[in-house]
Amino acid sequence: MRKIKLLTLALFGILSLTVLVAAVQKKAPHGVSKAFRNNSCVTCHAGLTEPLGTSAHFYEWRSSRHAKNDVGCEKCHGGNPASSSYKLAHEGVLAPTFAQSTLHPKNLAQTCSACHQEIASAFVKSKHSQALQATGNGPSCINCHQHMATAVITWPPETAALCAKCHTSNGSASQYLAVPTQAGETIAAFSRTDGVLEWAQFLLSEGKSKKVRLQDETEKIRQLEAANKQAKVQWHEFNLSASRRTVDDVFLRATVIKDNIWKKLPE
Ligand code: HEC
Ligand code: HEC
Ligand code: HEC
Ligand code: HEC
Ligand code: HEC
Repeated sequence: MRKIKLLTLALFGILSLTVLVAAVQKKAPHGVSKAFRNNSCVTCHAGLTEPLGTSAHFYEWRSSRHAKNDVGCEKCHGGNPASSSYKLAHEGVLAPTFAQSTLHPKNLAQTCSACHQEIASAFVKSKHSQALQATGNGPSCINCHQHMATAVITWPPETAALCAKCHTSNGSASQYLAVPTQAGETIAAFSRTDGVLEWAQFLLSEGKSKKVRLQDETEKIRQLEAANKQAKVQWHEFNLSASRRTVDDVFLRATVIKDNIWKKLPE
């Protein structure tokens, strides 16, 4: 009697496991990284057309750097991507308005620090983070990077306008009125530095294909790229003058190297 019961139980177990695995292994749609083949958040949400907000967020994610780098929904929202049941998959997924949500503005730095540790710790040191924790009135990661962190602002007037939401004479941070202009200029400085580094990389690859020796230049550009990354970390402390100094220094040095490589390349 007991044996039969056990056997039935085992059979039932195997059967339900097979059903579960089959459901979860529903193929990831073409056009989404293979890494998401067994990720139920992606396989299920890819097929949703309603509600609009939920469906639109899927598409926002799909075109993001996060999707391209295999960062799934659960990395930010929580939940269980191994379960294909609506209820179990959503366990722990809370709307950002809840204080316990991983995506509540006050908790974002912690959530994002899993992968952006340096930037998140710089941000936590800033007056913005202190104001955010104390009064809720301070920008958090998504104020500048949009929902799901899909955007990086690179257009100076857009940055200035963003800062001017609070840094204006009748705003919540009226004591720092020079901020919008200064921030716009810092963004312009970041953009031109990204630009010259990209140009130098292009010339280096030209040189490589033409077998020109450029070891020294390659190493210097590598160092300048690291310094540029550091300037972006500094920006997140909202030390605008320091990040501006670093990034301008990188720009000037990269310009010299870019011109050197150029001279060494054959016509
Ligand atoms: C079986 C299908 C299915 C799976 C699996 C699934 N979702 Fe959903 N999800 C939905 C549907 C349907 C909605 C819309 C619910 C509504 O508002 O009507 C939704 C809504 C959401 C929302 C909006 C929050 C809300 O309640 O309005 C988030 C965020 C979300 N899902 C994240 C996830 C994450 C993260 C995973 C994986 C860990 C996941 N989902 C797995 C079907 C699914
Ligand atoms: C890099 C982190 C990150 C990833 C990855 C990510 N999200 Fe989001 N998501 C966010 C943030 C941040 C918000 C905005 C919170 C706010 O508006 O306050 C958000 C908002 C949403 C919302 C609207 C808010 C809500 O809960 O109703 C939905 C729906 C949603 N995401 C679904 C998804 C789905 C589905 C995936 C995967 C296909 C995904 N997200 C991937 C960070 C992420
Ligand atoms: C599981 C790891 C992971 C988590 C969690 C994560 N990210 Fe990312 N993020 C990445 C990777 C990987 C990239 C791509 C890096 C690259 O291209 O060099 C990236 C890129 C970015 C970019 C640059 C986008 C671009 O277009 O240049 C921003 C901004 C960003 N993340 C913000 C966030 C924010 C805000 C959060 C928290 C809501 C977050 N990330 C959470 C891994 C993560
Ligand atoms: C007040 C606006 C603002 C806030 C708040 C903010 N960022 Fe940024 N972030 C920027 C700007 C501006 C850049 C650099 C733009 C560029 O690359 O030219 C940037 C760049 C980044 C990058 C790309 C860095 C690289 O090396 O390319 C990541 C990742 C990132 N931020 C994550 C975060 C995270 C995580 C938070 C919250 C802890 C956050 N940011 C808060 C404005 C902001
Ligand atoms: C949601 C409102 C809000 C937005 C948007 C905002 N700030 Fe602030 N900012 C504050 C608050 C609040 C303080 C802190 C005021 C205080 O208590 O000293 C502050 C302080 C600062 C300070 C002084 C920090 C220090 O350490 O001395 C700088 C610099 C700054 N913000 C830069 C920026 C930049 C750059 C932007 C746009 C990219 C921006 N802020 C957008 C609210 C905001």
